[in-house]
Amino acid sequence: MKRLADRAAIVTGAASGIGRATALRLADEGATVLCLDVQADAVAEVANDCGTRARSRVCDVSDPGACREAVASALEAFGRLDVLCNVAGILRFAHTHELALADWRRMLDVNLTGTFLMCQAALPHLLERQGCIINTASTSALAGLPWGAGYGASKAGILGLTSALAVEYGKRGLRANAVCPGSIKTPITKTPMPADIDPSLVQRLMPLDTPRGPEAVAGVVAMLASSDGAHINGEHIRIDGGTLA
Ligand SMILES: NC(=O)c1ccc[n+]([C@@H]2O[C@H](COP(=O)([O-])OP(=O)(O)OC[C@H]3O[C@@H](n4cnc5c(N)ncnc54)[C@H](O)[C@@H]3O)[C@@H](O)[C@H]2O)c1
Repeated sequence: MKRLADRAAIVTGAASGIGRATALRLADEGATVLCLDVQADAVAEVANDCGTRARSRVCDVSDPGACREAVASALEAFGRLDVLCNVAGILRFAHTHELALADWRRMLDVNLTGTFLMCQAALPHLLERQGCIINTASTSALAGLPWGAGYGASKAGILGLTSALAVEYGKRGLRANAVCPGSIKTPITKTPMPADIDPSLVQRLMPLDTPRGPEAVAGVVAMLASSDGAHINGEHIRIDGGTLA
């Protein structure tokens, strides 16, 4: 079923994990995709795997100019923009009283400000098409992630941003939703943790279900981007195998 035929999409963080799986899934469902990431070779490879119509571009989403240029390049290549998937993200664990200010700032810059900058650059074009935005938050926005204060704060900010977009632009036909993944097998889950952590605290982060691959998130994103998601706006959808149920 080509639910996304004739749709043009941007996916950030497309070189790896959930972003990669999302780009591939959107392309498989018929969309033309611009894949963005800071990893030049890997993102080019993903675009190649998405098919001949797909494009890639190096873009650090924390850079306002790079975000504007990326959106302009999608418009130039595809003539329109229907879907924006903000997936790029970083995680640094630390005891909060030891978290370096530079790490706190970088998590907010990439995860939250990067999502905002991409939304801001894309909104005028998405409104023309009554398009949609799918932002990637996290279960850490819904329940405390120990040693993840900066990460959780950035992801909670994404939920607030998404809700505001949904009500601000909903009457003009634009939808904005967020997904909240948890325990998805990708490189980010290998992020080193402080050596002296209490293992009982880690236990609460374990999924009830078995951990899933990034395709489990990509399928939900594709649904939200398609007309199957036409009446879903302002949702925060948990994709964590029931961990926080
Ligand atoms: N894997 C999980 O269990 C999980 C859980 C909750 C949320 N998430 C979120 O899902 C998203 C994707 O993560 P993932 O699990 O696929 O991890 P990942 O590390 O495989 O992918 C993250 C991607 O973002 C890219 N990126 C990093 N900084 C960037 C920047 N400044 N500009 C553009 N791209 C940048 C990386 O190069 C990488 O390709 C992230 O926002 C992450 O916070 C993942």
